[in-house]
Amino acid sequence: MAEYREVKTYDIPARLKGKGTGSHDRPKPHIDEATYKSNYQASITKIDEFWGKLGRETIDWDVPFKTVRHGGFEKGDVAWFPEGQLNASYNCVDRWAFRHPDKTAIIWEADEPGQGKEISYKELLAEVCQVANALTNMGVRKGDAVIVYLPMIPEAAVALLACARIGAVHSVVFAGFSADSLRDRAVDCDARVVITTDEGKRGGRTIATKSIVDAALKECPKVEHCLVVKRTGSDVPMQEGRDKWWHDAAAAERAYCSPVPVQSEDPLFILYTSGSTGKPKGVVHSTAGYLLGTALTVKHIFDVHENDRFACMADVGWITGHSYIVYGPLMNGVTTLIFESTPVYPTASRYWEVVAQHKLTQFYTAPTSIRLLRRLGEEHVKGHDLTSLRVIGTVGEPINPEAWDWYNENVGHGECAVVDTYWQTETGAHMISPFPGATKTKPGSATVPFWGVEPVLLDPQSGKLIEGNEVEGVLAIKQPWPSMARTIKGDHQRFLDVYLKPYPGYYFTGDGAARDKDGYIWIKGRVDDVCNVSGHRIGTAEIESALIQHPGVSESAVVGIADEVTGQAICAYVALKPSFSYDSHEALVKELVLQVRRNIGPFAAPKKILVVKDLPKTRSGKIMRRILRKVASNEADQLGDVSSLADPSVVDGIIEVWNKDQAKK
Ligand code: WTA
Repeated sequence: MAEYREVKTYDIPARLKGKGTGSHDRPKPHIDEATYKSNYQASITKIDEFWGKLGRETIDWDVPFKTVRHGGFEKGDVAWFPEGQLNASYNCVDRWAFRHPDKTAIIWEADEPGQGKEISYKELLAEVCQVANALTNMGVRKGDAVIVYLPMIPEAAVALLACARIGAVHSVVFAGFSADSLRDRAVDCDARVVITTDEGKRGGRTIATKSIVDAALKECPKVEHCLVVKRTGSDVPMQEGRDKWWHDAAAAERAYCSPVPVQSEDPLFILYTSGSTGKPKGVVHSTAGYLLGTALTVKHIFDVHENDRFACMADVGWITGHSYIVYGPLMNGVTTLIFESTPVYPTASRYWEVVAQHKLTQFYTAPTSIRLLRRLGEEHVKGHDLTSLRVIGTVGEPINPEAWDWYNENVGHGECAVVDTYWQTETGAHMISPFPGATKTKPGSATVPFWGVEPVLLDPQSGKLIEGNEVEGVLAIKQPWPSMARTIKGDHQRFLDVYLKPYPGYYFTGDGAARDKDGYIWIKGRVDDVCNVSGHRIGTAEIESALIQHPGVSESAVVGIADEVTGQAICAYVALKPSFSYDSHEALVKELVLQVRRNIGPFAAPKKILVVKDLPKTRSGKIMRRILRKVASNEADQLGDVSSLADPSVVDGIIEVWNKDQAKK
């Protein structure tokens, strides 16, 4: 049976019933228990009717669709609303700019408190149009890829919407990735233009974005232009003919650009994500299905109403930022926040100052920030007026009940809905999550499926369906849903192999899960070689291939280890080439960490590096990570059967290194 701990069930909270402290007018939730149930049933049984209606209501179409859904998991040819034509930027900006031009679309909370600004829908429309025109002038056409390497500034949202306006496909690369990673992604998607800043700002520190782009572009022959936003005003070299300042390019353009209609299934964006093997995959999302999924989940999982001020604290470089900073909130015409800083800059009260100052109604972050803030103490939360909040959410990793309780008590004051939202880059939008006005919550459980999502548990070995409650297995999804990814850029076969072939007839999530006595889902984490550090998804294979590039390393194996704040941390075992000599152990470890930072980015740096003589391998040469995981979790006494190892004595050497490392502290 699962290890979940069912401590307590929480009822629908007071503020969702229009009650509780504070003087704000509280709208009635869109969905109550009965409507959730009937809608859910309709969403999986009367699929065409249910989704057809929502598709027509939620999106403004240039050409209406005829078919609601097409294809399936068997062939991997899923399509939604195929004949329809639409434009994402029109749906996110224009229709609101007509209806409420002066309403704030974006609140920018800059790194230094007080230096941010607000942008209205009217202003957003003008800027999106100017940048769309500038991109067109640079030769960008429908279907072309544009790399966005931007820190958390309003121009990030503008860049995405400007691409969408002309039918270009954006591919955002998180501004914490190294030049090598940026180059690989730009090459993989054939980008012609890169958008970046002179520098970035975060937590009082400066990030050298332009110089990283310059290094990457040395090996990207297809990139013709680089559009540079001035963020800090530092003197950065501009390459004649290639580099242009955003403000110059935009100012020279007309403040209108007519939106280019695209087919529902045309790609809106590519976003690279880690898998258990090989290089990162360029996950491709469609336009209509993705917009529908993000729009509906913002409306219903965050219970967003017209005058809400919604805040997702993720980075736009990850899917959470795409769906819940940019597309989802703007599809609902509400106000969204772009946060440039960190939860602890300048102090550990930053989040709560931001909530109070902007009277935020929804607040969405990762469990890792909650754990960090919990550790720093509730005095940082106390005294801030958080009564504007109605829904507080988490995403990216399992939330431990202690962190959930802390969030609920200190931030939500027991009066907000706490939504633990389970989803993935590939799913586009929330898959399993409480509905604020409809779902009783249990700390640590993502609870119930969103409309159209049929989660199933399968036996990992036989692939058989595990029915009933109080069971666990691997988590798969039974039917296509609108916002699911359609393919992997340039490699549809890999898409089939990774998601649709492992359990034929199902989409495989890569996660393990349990279903409790009430049918609630508890996500247990990845069952493959993917680590989750601070909610960032990192493939162990990527770190291994970074380490192997160091001249001294002959082999490496990376495992995730539990970490109190970051959820998981990276632990790398490396074996050195016999001929390799080095001065000091400390210097070598530093070099290896640097190697990973250079190849991937600082966020992937191993917390622990253990230099061992050999790695434990089976007779066929496969590294037995299970053993490495056990040792790194201080469970060397539970190794189990090691007789299939080519050389079982290797294990003793590894345990010895581990013990020595532990003794150092
Ligand atoms: C994990 C982030 C438990 C999971 C949106 C998934 C979660 C991976 C939760 C996707 C949650 C995400 N509870 N685990 N609420 N949300 N995960 O693609 O392992 O960066 O497969 O998407 O994060 O990470 P990704």
